[in-house]
Amino acid sequence: MSLKELENNIEHWENCISQATSFKELDNLKADIFGKSGILSAAFKEITNIATEEKKAFGEKLNYIKQQLDNAILNQKNKLKDYLIAEKLKNEAEDINLPIPENAFGGLHLITQSIRRIKAHYSARGFLILDGPEIETEFFNFDALNMPKYHPARQSHDTFYLEGVQGHLLRTHTSNVQIRSMMLDRGKSIRMLSIGKTYRNDSLDATHSPMFHQMEGLVVDQKPINIGHLSSELKKLMAFFFEVENVEIRLRPSFFPFTEPSMEVDCKCIIKDGKLIISEHGNKWIELGGAGMVHPNVFKACKIEQPAYGFAFGVGLDRLVMLKNGIQDIRNLFDTDTRWLKYYAC
Ligand code: PHE
Repeated sequence: MSLKELENNIEHWENCISQATSFKELDNLKADIFGKSGILSAAFKEITNIATEEKKAFGEKLNYIKQQLDNAILNQKNKLKDYLIAEKLKNEAEDINLPIPENAFGGLHLITQSIRRIKAHYSARGFLILDGPEIETEFFNFDALNMPKYHPARQSHDTFYLEGVQGHLLRTHTSNVQIRSMMLDRGKSIRMLSIGKTYRNDSLDATHSPMFHQMEGLVVDQKPINIGHLSSELKKLMAFFFEVENVEIRLRPSFFPFTEPSMEVDCKCIIKDGKLIISEHGNKWIELGGAGMVHPNVFKACKIEQPAYGFAFGVGLDRLVMLKNGIQDIRNLFDTDTRWLKYYAC
C-alpha cells in the first residue's frame, strides 16, 4: 500500500481498531498494520523510490500515521480492559436478594457453646458472671495477686507486654477479674464466675496455644468458708461439665501465690479407645485445674476488711473441652478448617 493510499485509508483503519471487541482481534489488526508484511512496512519500502529531497517529508508523514495508529490501538486496548473488568464485576457480583442455601448458615464454635452453657448454669446457681479486660495492668494481673515485681512465679507466666504502654500486658489468667470484683464489691459476699481469653507467650503445639481460655470462680464471705466448701464446689463443677452423676476428686497440695493453701484438682477417670471418660469408678487420675483458699495478702491488696474468707478455682477451658470431646490437638480449636468446625458446630 502506498503512502497516498494509506493516507486515504487511515480513517478506515482507525474504525477497524475502535470496533475491535477482543484482544485477539486487536492483535490481528496490529499484525495487519505493523507486521512484516503489514501495510506500514509496504509503505516504508516505497522510500527507496522517492527523490532524496522528498524523503524527509515522506518519512515524517509515515511516522505520523504510524504514531496515530499506534495510539488508536493503545486506546482501544485500555477501553477493552476497562470493559472486561466492568463485565466481570457485573457477572460475578453477589445477588444479595438470593435466598441462602439451607446448609450455608454458620454455627456456634465448640468453645462458644461451652462458654454459653457454663454461664447459663452458673448464673442459674446465683453466681455473678463477670468479665475483665484482656489488656490488663501489672497491678490487676500480678501485684494484687500476691506476685510483686520480683516474685519468681511471675517469670513462669511468659507474659506479652504491650510495647509503648508501660505496665500493660495481655492478661495471663482470668484471676484479674477476682481482684476487680473484690475491689468493686468490697465488704460484700461474692459468688462470681469469670470466663474468657487469656494469653501467654507459648509457641503453638498440640497442647499449647498463645491464646487460650480460662474459667475462674471466686466465693468470698465474712462467715467462715473452708476447704470442704471448695471441694464440694469443684465436684459440682466437674459433674456438671462432664455431664456425669458423681465424680471423685482428689486435691493435691500445690502452690499459687494468690491462694493458701493451694491445690491441684484431679478427677478419677477411665481412658477408653483414646477417649477420656470422667467416672467415679475410674482407675486413673487426671489433673483438671487449680484451686485454693484466698491468700490474706490478696484480701489486703483489695483492701477487704478482716475477717474475710474465700476460695478460688481455675481451669483451662480448652483442655476440658478437648478431654470431653476426645480432641487431641488444641490447634484444631483455633483452625479454620470448616469441615472440622461444622462437625462440632451447633
Ligand atoms: N490463675 C491460675 C492459673 O492461671 C489458676 C487458679 C485460679 C489457681 C484460682 C487457683 C485459684 O494457673
